Amino acid sequence: MRFLVTGAGGLIGANLALSLESRGHEVHALDHFDVGRRENLADFRGVIHTGDIRNFQYDGLGRLDGIFHQAAITDTTVMDEELMMSVNVGAFIKILEFAQRTGCPKVVYASSAATYGKGAPPNQEDQPPRPANIYGVSKAEMEKAARAFTSAHPGVRAVGLRYFNVYGPLEFHKKAAASMVYQLYRQMADGKNPRIFKWGDQYRDFIYVKDVVEANWKAFEFPGGGVFNVGTGKGTSFNQVIAILNKALGTQRGTDYFDNPYGFYQDATRADTVQGENVLGWKVNYFPETGIPDYVAWLRSKEKTPISR
Ligand SMILES: NC(=O)c1ccc[n+]([C@@H]2O[C@H](COP(=O)([O-])OP(=O)(O)OC[C@H]3O[C@@H](n4cnc5c(N)ncnc54)[C@H](O)[C@@H]3O)[C@@H](O)[C@H]2O)c1
Repeated sequence: MRFLVTGAGGLIGANLALSLESRGHEVHALDHFDVGRRENLADFRGVIHTGDIRNFQYDGLGRLDGIFHQAAITDTTVMDEELMMSVNVGAFIKILEFAQRTGCPKVVYASSAATYGKGAPPNQEDQPPRPANIYGVSKAEMEKAARAFTSAHPGVRAVGLRYFNVYGPLEFHKKAAASMVYQLYRQMADGKNPRIFKWGDQYRDFIYVKDVVEANWKAFEFPGGGVFNVGTGKGTSFNQVIAILNKALGTQRGTDYFDNPYGFYQDATRADTVQGENVLGWKVNYFPETGIPDYVAWLRSKEKTPISR
């Protein structure tokens, strides 16, 4: 089959493009590579298109069997609302229109747990959106746009995936926006005590990128449309992440706690996974206890410097 992956230089897009290719499909990768990296696609043999999702000439791709739309402004601290909306929402509508024009039946797109924002966990798909930042608003707007578009054009089915906290290989380029798992790993591998807000009992639903890739595939295979959570269904505290990392690295680092400077801080995220399991048939394979060690093994294979003791 023929697929387009947008944001293919990024964490999720690169893992997805590589996985689709390994399943024998023709994959077109699109990214402007301002954030994501070409190095993430070093092993990719498909077609790489360098361009901006806002003005890319999609029709040149011809008819596709599916589009996996991952490109977005992913930095949640960006305050430029106009820019956020034009990249995250405006370009998405162009992609839906392209799908409709060329007979592409399926668009799987990245939404986010940020749509829940201040909503209490466990977060269920039918919970009203309560985004706490512009980024979260843009993702809720994407979902609205998808609903409106697909009800006007039922030939296109769209599945939105509300990813929770994704971690895994190929996220070096994200720097300060990289996963908490990577940030803590980095400090610990470099010989420092990990630094977290007091008292480390805030928790997140950490989901491994390999599971995210699988969820995208299930969403493609699913004949309908809708919005689904992509999380483990389990909250893992920052203290627990540090304990798992200590075990995986063979270290015994203590933890440095400091005051949280933020007025609003999401203390907890956790997905309800019932819809994903029952409707998409997607089930998580890696809880942090196995996903983090798998990721650490990958990181260690890439880094030459020994762990500072
Ligand atoms: N990583 C997470 O924890 C997480 C959680 C929820 C949702 N998401 C969503 O998943 C998707 C992928 O996230 P990621 O973690 O891989 O982020 P990422 O930043 O690694 O990847 C996004 C990619 O999109 C590209 N991009 C951005 N704007 C573009 C534009 N105008 N034209 C072309 N390319 C552009 C970037 O260069 C980057 O390679 C995003 O839509 C993000 O909002 C991610």
